[in-house]
Amino acid sequence: MYILGLESSCDETSCAIVEMAEGKRRICANIIASQIDIHRLYGGVVPEIAGRAHIEAVSRITKEALDTAGLSLSDIGLCAVTSHPGLIGALLVGVNFGKSLAFANGIPLVGVDHVKGHIAAAYLEYPNLEPPFLGVVLSGGHTSFYVVKSYTEYEEIGSTRDDAAGEAFDKIGRVIGLPYPGGAALDRLAYEGDKKAYKLPSPALSGDTLDFSFSGLKTAALNLINTASQKGEEINRADLAASFTGVIADGFSKKLKMALDMTGLKTVVLAGGVSANSHLRAAATSVCKKQGAELCLPPLSLCGDNAAMIAAQGYYEYINGQKDGTDLNASAV
Ligand code: KG4
Ligand code: ZN
Repeated sequence: MYILGLESSCDETSCAIVEMAEGKRRICANIIASQIDIHRLYGGVVPEIAGRAHIEAVSRITKEALDTAGLSLSDIGLCAVTSHPGLIGALLVGVNFGKSLAFANGIPLVGVDHVKGHIAAAYLEYPNLEPPFLGVVLSGGHTSFYVVKSYTEYEEIGSTRDDAAGEAFDKIGRVIGLPYPGGAALDRLAYEGDKKAYKLPSPALSGDTLDFSFSGLKTAALNLINTASQKGEEINRADLAASFTGVIADGFSKKLKMALDMTGLKTVVLAGGVSANSHLRAAATSVCKKQGAELCLPPLSLCGDNAAMIAAQGYYEYINGQKDGTDLNASAV
């Protein structure tokens, strides 16, 4: 079955065509129109501008996806669209476009959870991957551990109590003058610094929990920068990037090991934009090796927001019986 996926929850408009069947998972097209250059002027995503840019891009990229796949709408068996969570004005564009496309062409429609979509990116890269496994979502909006019980049933077993990992990377990146979004630039800069140069608090909460808190770490890093500037001193940006990334990678390793011990699961799927971070990928690789667990790492092209992952998850929701109608709505949470 060919599934047309649509994603517009934040600052990427994406349309993908994915072929899914028993024993088959194939990306035919995955077109992404990024708005990063527009939002960079403001140092972060401006929701109203994001909504407008999605409207401008969505028809064009849908046509481009169909052309790339060499298919027409009559070949499409399912339309899957991100319905939550995300920026409401941005989500509404994809949801309304998806509804119109589906009902005008007699195609079944399913609304998809963006976070489940991130995890489904791994199905496209690993043809034999199937639940149960430990799903770890590290993104601009989420930092969570899930027991993925089946393709559609998830249990959250740990999460951030405040900011997400991506927000923390972006905030510190901005303060030290890196272009938005700071995550990828901070990743590279960290190689040039000493991770022991600055002492920062771990985002991994102590005790018998899989929860994180990034606000204390963020505040500590900001205080360090402000104190240095009040004294007329310069912080070493590379050392700060290395120390900040190091404390996140160490905290993440500790909780990943704990999650594997607690659940007894032997497969880990890393997902979300921050899972592109090379230090976190290395940390996860080392923990999984020591624990004898298999690690599934999506390719960098499927870490950030894209519609192929939404189409893949949409397929599993559909074969599990989900079918949405014209009353499908977007939700910010
Ligand atoms: O999953 P995503 O594309 O959007 C959300 O659903 O939030 O994640 C975007 C986040 C941004 O915060 C961005 O800075 C971060 O992913 N990111 C990275 C890296 N590449 C992207 N963070 C750390 N290291 C990276 N290499
Ligand atoms: Zn995302």
